[in-house]
Amino acid sequence: MTDTEIRDVRGRRIWDSRGRPTVEVEIQLAGGALGRAIAPAGASTGSGEAVDLRDGDEMFGGYDVRRALRAVNDEIDQALTGADADDQAAIDAALIQLDGTPNKSRLGGNALVATSMAVAHAAAAAEGVPLWRRLGGISAHTLPLPEIQIFGGGAHAGRRVDVQDFMVIAVGAADYEEALDWTARVYIAAGKLMAAAGALQGVADEGGYWPVFDTNEAALDMMVRAIEAAGLVPGDQVAISLDIAASEFGSGGRYRLGLEERALDSDGLSEMLTGWLDRYPIVSVEDPLGEDDEAGLIAFTAAAGDRVQVIGDDYLVTNADRVQTAIEKHACNAVLVKPNQAGTLTEARAAFDTATVAGWGAVISARSGETEDVTIVHLAVGWGAYQLKVGSFARSERMAKWNEGLRIAEAIGAKASLPPPRVFPWG
Ligand code: PGA
Ligand code: ZN
Repeated sequence: MTDTEIRDVRGRRIWDSRGRPTVEVEIQLAGGALGRAIAPAGASTGSGEAVDLRDGDEMFGGYDVRRALRAVNDEIDQALTGADADDQAAIDAALIQLDGTPNKSRLGGNALVATSMAVAHAAAAAEGVPLWRRLGGISAHTLPLPEIQIFGGGAHAGRRVDVQDFMVIAVGAADYEEALDWTARVYIAAGKLMAAAGALQGVADEGGYWPVFDTNEAALDMMVRAIEAAGLVPGDQVAISLDIAASEFGSGGRYRLGLEERALDSDGLSEMLTGWLDRYPIVSVEDPLGEDDEAGLIAFTAAAGDRVQVIGDDYLVTNADRVQTAIEKHACNAVLVKPNQAGTLTEARAAFDTATVAGWGAVISARSGETEDVTIVHLAVGWGAYQLKVGSFARSERMAKWNEGLRIAEAIGAKASLPPPRVFPWG
């Protein structure tokens, strides 16, 4: 028996940032080490992601997770007890095999991802190091550049505006701490400008201000004004980043902009977005076209991929095979990596590696339904990811992650640095 042998797998129901049930897993190792992790949950999900197992009955609008917890406490506990937590790949392979479905629907992506991440934490605890250090080794020193939401729209704000995330990236910041300082200033400035316009109506699901705008462009104008009001230079110091989440308002190459009561085909949406690239200091655009509009994604990447990061989220769903295909087809030039879209850490890592080896960008990302779990920050630093997306600069399920980055930066000390400027060569 080794210290890293799994002695017990325990699932419990806890609650996420939307007040919905979610799965927490604790892994106890023979040597006494404990690992714990919590499954997040998306609202604007890609159709190809791992499926969360929800009860679908009258409890909590169908969102209860009793079946997923039963999977953890019965089948997964039996399968993993006695296994070695030190071998993440073997653990994840066992989970995949035990589930047996292509989309993790039998045991639940929520049950699997919480287990997979809890095993990683347990193995790190047994080694006596934080997870980022276990994954990245002694040389890990790169903090991810934060991508932080200022206005939340789309599915996270009752579709009040079409675009889902209006975000900032502090491209000119000297270090992680300064990136957060600058973002805090922009967030506060945006709130003051919204209040002055009589448009401050609370926040959306990820903590960004509720988007009381008449057009998507009005939100973009407000972003630029907020950066300036914070005393920062739009583009040079703080740039704009968008998640269009186009699958939420279009399919089959037809898009309906609710806000402007306008229907667009794929080319029309592409043209509208490239027009924004001409007029605003935008460095990154996620899901510019729908997940089923591969031709549109290829066309947009051809038109704009040399001056902006084009991220696939719903289209790639943290799947290494899909990323490889997209690389070959020149559809997008970056991937969003959400561990729960894949279902296990090993699969999420494969999607990350496939992208970065090809010179693609890779953004480690939280979900709109989150908790105090900070695993993704450790993954970002441990894997050497250049970017991290967590939502806004408010509400503790978001701030827990940004704050964890500060602690990690402090632990790394003087060697801690942001990625090289070539992340956004067009910035
Ligand atoms: P979700 O949205 O977590 O609600 O799926 C996040 C995103 O689209 O990036
Ligand atoms: Zn997205």
